[in-house]
Order: sequence, then C-alpha cells, then structure tokens
Amino acid sequence: MTDTHQPSPLIAMRGVCFNYPGGPPILNDLDFELFRGERVGLVAPNGSGKTTLFHILMGLLKPCAGEVRIFGRPVHREQDFIEVRQRIGMLFQDADDQLFSPTVLEDVAFGPLNLGKSREEAATIARRTLARLGLEGFENRVTFRLSGGEKRLVSLATVLAMEPEVLLLDEPTTGLDDKTRHTLTHLIVAFDLTYVLISHNVPFLAATTDKTYSMEGGRILLDETVHFHEHVHAHRHGQVPHQHE
Ligand SMILES: Nc1ncnc2c1ncn2[C@@H]1O[C@H](COP(=O)(O)OP(=O)(O)OP(=O)(O)O)[C@@H](O)[C@H]1O
Ligand SMILES: [Mg+2]
Repeated sequence: MTDTHQPSPLIAMRGVCFNYPGGPPILNDLDFELFRGERVGLVAPNGSGKTTLFHILMGLLKPCAGEVRIFGRPVHREQDFIEVRQRIGMLFQDADDQLFSPTVLEDVAFGPLNLGKSREEAATIARRTLARLGLEGFENRVTFRLSGGEKRLVSLATVLAMEPEVLLLDEPTTGLDDKTRHTLTHLIVAFDLTYVLISHNVPFLAATTDKTYSMEGGRILLDETVHFHEHVHAHRHGQVPHQHE
C-alpha cells in the first residue's frame, strides 16, 4: 500500500518579510520549507540575509510580516521559542556570540545543564562531545583565549552537546585549517540529522548537502550549480567534457 500521507515540514516560512529598523527590506515575501532528513546548503552573496534568516528561525529577530511554523506550530512569542531553542541548534556566525563561560567545559556543559541534566551528566556529555570534535584536553582552557578555529570548534561542541534534531550552522568552516575542515566534513556527513549549512565553500557544500538554495531580492531560490558541479565530477565520464540532458 502506498503511503499517501504528506510529511509536514519541520520548518515552514510563508511570505516572511523583515527589515532592520529604518533599513531596506532584507527578507521580502520569503518562502522556505525544511523537511526531516533534508541536508540543505545556503550559499548567497554577503549581505543577502542568510544570517538574518537563521536569527528569525531562532526567535532572535521578529519578522514584520508572514508566518513561521516550527515543528508544526506557529511561533510568535518568546515562549514559543523555548522548545525551538532546545530542539534546533544554531551555530552563530561569530563564535564570540556563542561562547560566554570562563572555561570550555563550562560552556559546553551549559546547554545540557539547561536541559535539566545533573552536573555530572552535563560534564560527561560535554567531555564526550569535545572528544568527538578532537578537542580532548581543552576542558579547562580559558574560552576567550582560544584561537579563532578553536573557538569555532568549541562553539560547535556547545551546539552538539544539546543533541538537537535540527542544525542551523552559519559558516561552520570559517577559520578552520584544511585538516580540521575535512574532519568536520566527515563528522557532519555522519550525522543522522536535518540541517541547513550557510557557507561560501562550494566543495564543502557539495560534500555535506543534497540540495542548495541561494537568496536573491530577499527570497530563497533553488541553486543548481553546487550539485550540478559535483555531479559532473562524480560522473563515470570523469573530466571528459560531456553534455547532460
Ligand atoms: N543589526 C543590524 N542592523 C542593521 N542592519 C543590519 C544588522 N544586521 C545585519 N544588517 C544588514 O542586513 C543585511 C543582511 O545581513 P546578514 O548578516 O543577514 O547577511 P548575510 O547573508 O548573512 O551576509 P554574510 O555572508 O556577509 O554573512 C546586510 O546588508 C547587513 O548590513
Ligand atoms: Mg551571515
């Protein structure tokens, strides 16, 4: 028997508009849907509104018009976002917006503690998450003295430690060296998670996502260049120039 039941999106935005006070429209009648299991990239020019879009989804900014539904429910008030922030993990574009505790362990344990775990449980989760990112031995490091790339990875650890269902990662590879970026790529691919990755790194997006969107004029559009590019190179004709129907 065929299942005719249409899955409902985890995130649905309809006709969303946004502008900063006194500024021009940044999002303009924007529609976006994210379904469970989707691995989506978002690549668009600087200033096109990618970070703004993530901040609206986390309830950090309020749209001027339109509807946002998350996990099937409309979200408007601060209270509506409590559950959203527990189930969706966002990596801020700037690590200094993410990290605020004196030490790395305290920062990574903060989320699990907030979710009601005991101190011991939270510390165990934090250590395990740090180890997964190759950050063993960072537990007692002073957060604000970390390098840019180290801050990026610790920020990601704070997000993963909450065991979110959906990840919104705003330029996760910024500041990472080649080896660390490869480790991160493998880690992300191995996640059984739904995610949206903002990145300007096309090979990274080709390796970690199935579908890529762009933004133009405050709206989201499907971008077929990233995965078309990947397809050409994965093709058995290899580098030989050839046409696709
Ligand atoms: N707090 C703010 N007040 C006023 N304007 C802002 C504010 N934050 C962002 N903007 C403006 O809104 C526009 C969209 O910014 P946003 O950070 O969402 O872009 P982005 O697509 O994430 O860019 P990037 O690739 O550079 O990170 C930009 O023109 C930016 O200058
Ligand atoms: Mg941005």
